[in-house]
Amino acid sequence: MKFFIDTANLDQIREAYDLGILDGVTTNPSLMAKEGIRGHEAVMNHYINICNIVDGDVSAEVIATDFDGIVAEGEYLAKLHPQIVVKVPMIKDGIKAIKYFTQKGIKTNCTLVFSPGQAILAAKAGATYVSPFLGRLDDISTDSIDLIYKIVNIYRTYSFQTQVLAASIRHPMHIIACAEAGADVVTCPLDPILALLKHPLTDSGLEKFLADAKKFV
Ligand code: E4P
Repeated sequence: MKFFIDTANLDQIREAYDLGILDGVTTNPSLMAKEGIRGHEAVMNHYINICNIVDGDVSAEVIATDFDGIVAEGEYLAKLHPQIVVKVPMIKDGIKAIKYFTQKGIKTNCTLVFSPGQAILAAKAGATYVSPFLGRLDDISTDSIDLIYKIVNIYRTYSFQTQVLAASIRHPMHIIACAEAGADVVTCPLDPILALLKHPLTDSGLEKFLADAKKFV
């Protein structure tokens, strides 16, 4: 399972990359705004800065919601850097644009996916990634992990090549459940990734080993 970090914060991206386990980055307009990135040029430069930190795919989301606008924006983004993946919302013109990008060899991430039906359409259009949002489904009392199992099962049944990129991850148990469900990728903030490191028995065990080591050095 690949690990992407879901942030536009360069320090957090560097920290995850330095850990040696990072396979890519996802961003969205809300995450860019959170970092105070304003204006077209600043946003584009920020995407390039992210690409220069990591080795893998970096999702950059289009703002347009009509076919022509999504295509123009996506083609511009794709030319920015070879690591850019064009992130397109799950809407009618988005699906048409994903099909267009697929035929042009441009990688895509179909975002804001909340149902197996939407995931089937994304795969039929040839999306590189499909992003089901876990946390936002949990927020409305819906079983988000069940959605991952369903999409993985459908994709395996029909040998769809689209990778399941579990998004809107809120805590480490989401990551573990996604691994059990067979997600290809999880994208999450830095904290849930770092939380995977933690176990009280690791801390107390290490404390004891270090205390005992002092007896023979
Ligand atoms: C996915 O690519 C989105 O950027 C992200 O995971 C959304 O997460 P949120 O629901 O925590 O905003």
